[in-house]
Amino acid sequence: MSNVWQGDGRRVHLQEVGTRDGLQVEERFVPTEDKIALVNLLSTAGLAKIEVTSFVSPKAIPQLRDAEIVLREIQRRPGTVYTALVPNVRGAERALESKADELNLVMSASETHNLSNLRMSREQSFAGLSAVAKLARAAGVPINVSLSCSFGCPMEGDVAEGTVLDWCARMVDELGTHGITLCDTTGMAYPTQVAALVTAFRARWPQLELTLHFHNTRGMGLANVMAGLDAGAVRFDASFGGIGGCPYAPGATGNVCTEDIAHALALMGYDTGVDLPLLLQASRRLPALIGHDIPSQIVKAGRRLDLHPVPADVDEARRRTAPG
Ligand code: COA
Ligand code: ZN
Repeated sequence: MSNVWQGDGRRVHLQEVGTRDGLQVEERFVPTEDKIALVNLLSTAGLAKIEVTSFVSPKAIPQLRDAEIVLREIQRRPGTVYTALVPNVRGAERALESKADELNLVMSASETHNLSNLRMSREQSFAGLSAVAKLARAAGVPINVSLSCSFGCPMEGDVAEGTVLDWCARMVDELGTHGITLCDTTGMAYPTQVAALVTAFRARWPQLELTLHFHNTRGMGLANVMAGLDAGAVRFDASFGGIGGCPYAPGATGNVCTEDIAHALALMGYDTGVDLPLLLQASRRLPALIGHDIPSQIVKAGRRLDLHPVPADVDEARRRTAPG
């Protein structure tokens, strides 16, 4: 039975990825102290998890070359999980030294995207992730695996559901991951596909922490979130301001926008724990820092009941048309 239109106070975990997925594609380098201030504001806004940064090659992603300083200097709010993206052992060592609460490992369900993004075959990536998982286990830090292109690849096209689930099985059985993120790297997911994949995933791994990561590239972001919720997913990555995109995926654009999702879910009776005015403060800082407008609908339009003053001529019309 569908319960999608009735949140009934159900807890939904919104996981902020803007300072990683968002800032990694920006031309401008956002100063380190501004990154720290943004993460601190996002923490006070009540996000369940924040992907603070990524420990990748500073040559590949110079925008996040300050990963160590940012992760060390943010103020950590009890209850928020501070995670970081890690592509290899070098990245894992750096993230562990900087006291990440979780390592977010990454590989792609598509061979072509994996070769483009990580310069390795999927099998080579998997071997690397196994080494990372071992390091994390020894340090007592949990891992999550983000599987890019789980809903399609911009170069290969459809990725079979069986392929996605087979990789998930290896993450669970061989890496011992406590969570998996199914990533729609370039906005190819559509609601019925999301429902089918989430249903199949949850039937197989009911206890595993499942996150859905959508990009709004083709305008289906919120519809995909609703389809995921309806199929039982309760964790969603999103990006404040709606910024974001993979630099190694042609045509990639922003993630689903955190404030747009938080606003919609609150209206429908879900509990996201997000303080919308504080979240909007963070998003409103972005244009000055990144040098361009942001896709956020709520920053543009305001919340549903942020009302406008009544124009003077309406009062006049009201008087004129009043009975008697
Ligand atoms: N942290 C810091 N430096 C790293 C690193 C890491 N995690 N991984 C690699 N490097 C450095 C190496 O030290 C080396 O530096 P050098 O040239 O000064 O010796 C250089 O990067 C090349 O390393 P190499 O092992 O040959 O790997 P590569 O160049 O094939 O890099 C990746 C592979 C995937 C690590 C790298 O391309 C990368 O970080 N890409 C970014 C991926 C990404 O963030 N995608 C978007 C998000 S999904
Ligand atoms: Zn992404």
